[in-house]
Amino acid sequence: MGFTIAIDGPAAAGKGTISRAVAAHFGFAHLDTGLLYRAVGAKMLAGEAPVDAARNLVPEDLESDELRSPGVAQAASKVAVIAEVRAALVDFQRAFARRAGGAVLDGRDIGTVICPEAEAKLFVTATAEVRATRRFLELTQKGTVTTLEEVLADVKARDERDMNRAEAPLRPAGDAVLIDTSTLAIEEAVAKAIAAIEARR
Ligand code: C5P
Repeated sequence: MGFTIAIDGPAAAGKGTISRAVAAHFGFAHLDTGLLYRAVGAKMLAGEAPVDAARNLVPEDLESDELRSPGVAQAASKVAVIAEVRAALVDFQRAFARRAGGAVLDGRDIGTVICPEAEAKLFVTATAEVRATRRFLELTQKGTVTTLEEVLADVKARDERDMNRAEAPLRPAGDAVLIDTSTLAIEEAVAKAIAAIEARR
């Protein structure tokens, strides 16, 4: 029987790290749904119409390293407000969620829109300052030249767009377990997540 774990939350709250660890722990497949919007955002930056790009997306489009750049992150949150873009990406995500072996999907609307029936839902948050600091360190380690102020402004702009859009706004599902990672080490956050999911199994 399939088992779906939905992990939502704002940018750089620790969703990715937690999702990968949870997927490894349970032996489930993992889909970072942000990559879908990033791939569409990258295509928009390259001149393609976002709705066409979303409809024609292929798995190889998710593999470029360029998808991790701050410019693509902003473009992703811009195409993500378009209802037709979101609609074009629903079937792929739902099919992934129903995999026989179990699936972890992380994003913004997994527990609320994509998989409202998910067996376990987590909402992972942290303060904007903590999230910006983490993203800043990540980018700097990769050699990206930026400042903490710039990253904080980017994170806040994306939060604003993700929380206030009409279509699938970022918010916790009523039955999601909240995990605030602001003062947690990675291992502590992962342990909380696993415990919350075990409680639903
Ligand atoms: O998670 P990540 O930072 O890669 O997501 C990039 C952008 O894609 C988000 O800021 C959001 O606008 C959009 N997104 C979304 N729904 C999802 C996943 C991501 O709208 N399920």
